[in-house]
Amino acid sequence: MCGIVGYVGPRPSEDILIAGLARLEYRGYDSAGIAVIDQAGHLGMRKRAGKLSVLRDDLAEHPLAAGTTGIGHTRWATHGGPTDVNAHPHLADEGRLAVIHNDIIENFSELKAELVSEGYEFLSETDTEVAAVLLGREYAASHDLVAAFRATVVRLEGAFTLLAMHQDQPGLVVGARRNSPLVIGLGEGENFLGSDVAAFVEYTRNALAIGQDQIVAITPDGVTVTDFDGADVEVEPFQVTWDASAAEKGGWSSFMAKEVSEEPEAVANTLRGRIHDGLVAIPELDGLDDLFAGITRIVMIAAGTASYAGMVGKYATEHWTRIPVDVELAHEFRYRDPVLDSHTLIVSISQSGETMDTLMAVKYARERGAATLSICNTQGATIPRESDAVVYTHAGPEVAVASTKAFVAQITAQYLLALHIARVRGTLPEAEMAQHVIELEAIPRKIAKVLETETAHIAQLAHWMADTRSVLFLGRHVGYPIALEGALKLKEISYIHAEGFAAGELKHGPIALIEPGQPVFVLVPSPRESALLHDKVVSNIQEVRARGARVIVVAEEGDAAVLPFADEVLHIPLAGPLFEPLLSVVPLHLFAMGLSEAKGLDVDQPRNLAKSVTVE
Ligand code: F6R
Repeated sequence: MCGIVGYVGPRPSEDILIAGLARLEYRGYDSAGIAVIDQAGHLGMRKRAGKLSVLRDDLAEHPLAAGTTGIGHTRWATHGGPTDVNAHPHLADEGRLAVIHNDIIENFSELKAELVSEGYEFLSETDTEVAAVLLGREYAASHDLVAAFRATVVRLEGAFTLLAMHQDQPGLVVGARRNSPLVIGLGEGENFLGSDVAAFVEYTRNALAIGQDQIVAITPDGVTVTDFDGADVEVEPFQVTWDASAAEKGGWSSFMAKEVSEEPEAVANTLRGRIHDGLVAIPELDGLDDLFAGITRIVMIAAGTASYAGMVGKYATEHWTRIPVDVELAHEFRYRDPVLDSHTLIVSISQSGETMDTLMAVKYARERGAATLSICNTQGATIPRESDAVVYTHAGPEVAVASTKAFVAQITAQYLLALHIARVRGTLPEAEMAQHVIELEAIPRKIAKVLETETAHIAQLAHWMADTRSVLFLGRHVGYPIALEGALKLKEISYIHAEGFAAGELKHGPIALIEPGQPVFVLVPSPRESALLHDKVVSNIQEVRARGARVIVVAEEGDAAVLPFADEVLHIPLAGPLFEPLLSVVPLHLFAMGLSEAKGLDVDQPRNLAKSVTVE
């Protein structure tokens, strides 16, 4: 889950590498480093533990000699702590060769033992240095970087994106990938490599997606892609649909603040082009009617926030399609011998499209004959490429580590998928489908209203609660996954202990946690739409209040019944019961962000985390 960038062309590569790393820093921020081949043909390298700003300051004080070929890396530590020595790049061949790497080389100890027995020495504790030294040994034999690189990558087991350059071959950067992301940016007289397109979108929107087990060599004038045996392969071109300004903070205090403000557009853009004559028809799924008609089961696979989106999606998908739906945590799925057949549709949900747990679960299911469909936010990512079909969410680039606008887009995409399948299978009357479409189309406006009316109120509430040590979240039905999401966001960016519970579960144990003053957020279903559920949740509120809890409710505008029992009320506009999560999550995103800000924390880059979790 490190960020990787490579450049060859006419421009000073340091500027391009640092700008690319700034856009990739969401992938890890334990250390950063760059290597540049200067005009005199000498390879210079600088790397520093800490965020990219530490490296930037260092380079400002002690500049590297300028050059136009370079590689850069931002790290999320796996093998070896976040120190200068363990930072990338790693050098070999007496400092003439530089290597950067993402993910984990699983057989690194045995390779290291082999190299140590031959007299090679190592400076760091990383698996990456093993690849660098191995490449150095191969280069010494062939003096051909591409050939040496090929001989190296076939020895590596595990997952990796690897980039390398050698000062004897300036104007050349080589890269390889296995189960880890790498995309090519095509410029005029210059070319780029990146963990994702954000690395180079400022310079070009023309990109190529490299497949599994392929090697790429870029020079200023050309790109060649081969498989690990050296045979040429065709690569898929694509156009990046957003521009660099979409990945800028643009005056907001944090990327998260910007991304929460973009939740209305994330929903609207995900709906666009998928509603025709008041009904849902997703063009990307044309030709799959037989598949949808024949499935007997859907399994949603995801991790973290994306899995909560899946839990929300389950309610609507089962209700509208009458197909049983399971939601599985990707990292648990393939280790328990799941029952799969060709009538099972696996729907993976992933913002990054690179989460290793999810990728491995998708591959596992596909190998066992299940059909696979990916709901993904990132073009050219690995999971959609490894799936039979993809429905992209169009939330735009999400940079803050905590996922927000992607979450509402993921729910929207699942609702579209469910309505698409319901139309194919004829499980919903047209009038009812049309009503759901009207509800969906109204969501962006309603989220905008929550943002408009509640942002200041919630910031104030968060400020008052800055010293809070623990917060509980309760919800029923679709409110339950939203309670889980509210708790995860708070843990993640505010470092406050938080738990989400199904409100009905409270009396089976968690109520023992309630003591005087304990803050409890409660997601209250609409009394108009589901009086029974509403009344049960109001009873749950009374149970916690009776034990001294401080209750903050998220409730529909005009719900007078909750007022006597609430210390604070956060209002959301009226919506059908299945659509409420798209609104009720917004105050919880605002609250987590407000609390993180009130505590003076780094909202976008919380400790120990990285956005794209590409290790299992
Ligand atoms: C939480 C969060 C994570 C991700 C999870 C899956 O705010 O961002 O829990 O949702 O790591 O990531 P993707 O969606 O990229 O597969």
